[in-house]
Amino acid sequence: MKHIDVKVLFEKAEDFVNKNVTVCGWVRTARDSKGISFIELNDGTCLKNIQLIVEKDKVNTDNLKEALMVGTSLCVKGVFIPSPKNGYEINITDITVLGTCPPEYPLQKKRHTLEYLRTIPHLRVRARYFEAVFAVRHQLSISIHNYFHKNGYKYIHAPIITGSDCEGAGEMFRVTTHPWATEYTKEDEYYADDFFGKKAGLTVSAQLEGEMAAMGLGKIYTFGPTFRAEHSNTTRHAAEFWHVEPEVCFCDINDIIEIAEDFIKYIIKDVMDNCPEEIDFFDAWVEKGLKDKLNTVIANDFVKLDYTDAVEILKASGQDFKYAVEWGADLQTEHEKYLTEEHFKKPVFVVNYPKDIKSFYMKQNPDGKTVAATDLLVPGIGEIIGCSEREADYDKLIEAMEKRNMPVEMYQEYLDTRKYGSVPHAGFGLGFDRMLMYITGVQNIRDTLLFPRTVGSL
Ligand code: 4AD
Ligand code: MG
Repeated sequence: MKHIDVKVLFEKAEDFVNKNVTVCGWVRTARDSKGISFIELNDGTCLKNIQLIVEKDKVNTDNLKEALMVGTSLCVKGVFIPSPKNGYEINITDITVLGTCPPEYPLQKKRHTLEYLRTIPHLRVRARYFEAVFAVRHQLSISIHNYFHKNGYKYIHAPIITGSDCEGAGEMFRVTTHPWATEYTKEDEYYADDFFGKKAGLTVSAQLEGEMAAMGLGKIYTFGPTFRAEHSNTTRHAAEFWHVEPEVCFCDINDIIEIAEDFIKYIIKDVMDNCPEEIDFFDAWVEKGLKDKLNTVIANDFVKLDYTDAVEILKASGQDFKYAVEWGADLQTEHEKYLTEEHFKKPVFVVNYPKDIKSFYMKQNPDGKTVAATDLLVPGIGEIIGCSEREADYDKLIEAMEKRNMPVEMYQEYLDTRKYGSVPHAGFGLGFDRMLMYITGVQNIRDTLLFPRTVGSL
């Protein structure tokens, strides 16, 4: 079906003025009066609709009634002309109805609540809000790939089915083809008969595979889906989310923090440069002042704050926190909010967390109490990046695993990287969907994903 994207029509309008064009799309709104009808058509290629003018004495109007129904899909021909009100419009000579749309089409109104739209994920992509979300989602992916490509990283595809729980948080979904059978008395026997001959699950992080790849390729990144059976029913948690995980050799905690900050600023700027209309839309309708916020983030240094100092600031804040602030305890959402939204009012790297609340692979600091790990916290969302220098010392790594009762024998390949030419290396994980929330002002992670998966909802 030869036709022109509406986006191209607007971008290269000069080339098309006063010429015959064919466009396709869905009817957003329609207005009918005696001799003339107006249709706003949207084809999904850009936020803008193209206005169609139907002068009834010039067009075969046999199918006009159907064509004026909201949601109907059309292929139309006509002359592309300048219009004082809309910039451009099409004076129609021919209308073909591709698919009719009955009046019970759920998107009749111009505005619906996000909660309602969540009940029709298969149709909400036809709403302006989601057109904007998915345009930015696309651009953000491209910007991320561009950043790493330009900086010499290799894009690695890590396995999604894995045997190791990287974060050790017991949040892995199981992968099995084996029906439950009562003849087994031990878990191991049951798994031995399963597809892989052992317990398997969906990855919670590509980090361990990423580390092994980096220890030969130098610097790599992964960008794929990650699965966590977290029961946290919050606006920031999805059971299936997209995860960006670079891993860099010959790199310490300070180097990786510099990289993370540079990366975040680059992708924000690149999205703003490439999606100006969408960002304007979010600034106007979703988060007032969004553009100023993003420009300020790009222009200023992020805060680097020692965990121990964070605890001091929180203790001195005079705030009535629900969870007590104590050295050794993890920071809660309310604490993160206070630091980023009240105290600093900008992104904060909290560095050197107590080792007991963090993962086994993090480099142990000489103080014996903390690890060279950092979370990047941002106002409005909280943690968007989890980051660390990795423990490069074979013995210390084993010791940390044993302390956590991990099955060391299952990690022999990973441990080999520390045996054969170990190097200082570091990496981080960016929650892609949370980053998208930050750039767009969207408040719920469910509204950044096409078909969000959350606890109790598939
Ligand atoms: O802090 P996390 O658990 O770190 C890791 O997984 C490391 N292995 C990363 C690495 O160093 N390669 O997760 C990283 C980020 C979080 O900061 C958060 O943005 C996001 O992943 N994240 C989630 N996003 C949406 N829904 C969830 N349930 C998430 N859990 C983590
Ligand atoms: Mg984390």
